Amino acid sequence: MQVDGKHWKTVWWEDGRVRMIDQPLLPHQFKIVDLHDHHQTAVAIRDMTVRGAGAIGATGALGMAQGAVLAPDQDFHRHVADVANLLRSTRPTAQNLFAGIDHVLAAIEAEGSNVPRAREAALAAGLAFADDDAESCRRIGELGAPLLVNRRRVNTHCNAGWLAFVDWGSALSPIYAARRGGVDVSVWVDETRPRQQGSQLTAWELGQEGVPHQIIADNATGHYMSRGEIDICIVGSDRIAANGDVANKIGTYSSALAAAANGVPFYVAAPTTTIAMHTPTGADIPIEERHEDEVLYVWGWSDDGRFVRVRTAPAGSRGRNPAFDVTPAGLIAGIITERGIVPATPEGIASVARR
Ligand code: MRU
Repeated sequence: MQVDGKHWKTVWWEDGRVRMIDQPLLPHQFKIVDLHDHHQTAVAIRDMTVRGAGAIGATGALGMAQGAVLAPDQDFHRHVADVANLLRSTRPTAQNLFAGIDHVLAAIEAEGSNVPRAREAALAAGLAFADDDAESCRRIGELGAPLLVNRRRVNTHCNAGWLAFVDWGSALSPIYAARRGGVDVSVWVDETRPRQQGSQLTAWELGQEGVPHQIIADNATGHYMSRGEIDICIVGSDRIAANGDVANKIGTYSSALAAAANGVPFYVAAPTTTIAMHTPTGADIPIEERHEDEVLYVWGWSDDGRFVRVRTAPAGSRGRNPAFDVTPAGLIAGIITERGIVPATPEGIASVARR
């Protein structure tokens, strides 16, 4: 997608390095980070330099490739298993991360004891996984755009745009495709407390693409729905269970309830790498619980260009900080995947899931 008129991906491979946009600096600074080995790549996932299910999936796959390329001949397979364990431990919820790691591991294992071939296969598989993420998201845009022809005022939560994937995004991809097709869409962007992925990332990338948008506090969404000012919701997902329940950024469930109460169709957009057939229901999805300070403080840029943290809660108050919640399948109008728009039912999910 475009940044100041130039095409960028969120994460990519270059000469053995994993390169990525430093997301916590957005929208105030646009900076590229270089990661030279899988240890650095794992830290970048854990500390959310890269975030968003598809982007961390691709980063996990490329981190696996780095680990394999740098692994010594001796004990190669044990070393690769350690790399996989390290990358798996970074964040628990997004299925795409595990899909990316497993995809590269399978390519390595297919080469048996031929280590040089296994290294080549790991790199090819990592690159293919990242490319597949971008292409799936492009296709989600194509398939989802017709939903917006008569429903042009879209609400979204968190950032499920191109910054959350390698390119295009999931929830925002239909918006970009509709706009490029001449449909006059506009977006209500939920701020997305506590890490502000909506106001900092979604608003920024919509602005770069010239899409009209307004940022609202998370607790304003129901208000605008009740006034008939939101025609459709599209959100992303970090993991889709086999029964159609969907984990997404904390606050998604509240929006889905408000949408149901107001007759607003609530869609989820995700590549099929987000589907976890081994996770039967939403109750089985591991929900990341992050540090309470993200709730007790706010972060921002001062006028003199410093990134500062300010406490808003009373000294001594404690917080809780779940990063995701689960929206039950019954609240979802459909799931937009690169293989088609399907109902959030066991049959719908099974019809598009990867084997
Ligand atoms: O910023 P994160 O990695 O904590 O959040 C994950 C997400 O990007 C969102 O939940 C998003 O809506 C899912 S689609 C990538």
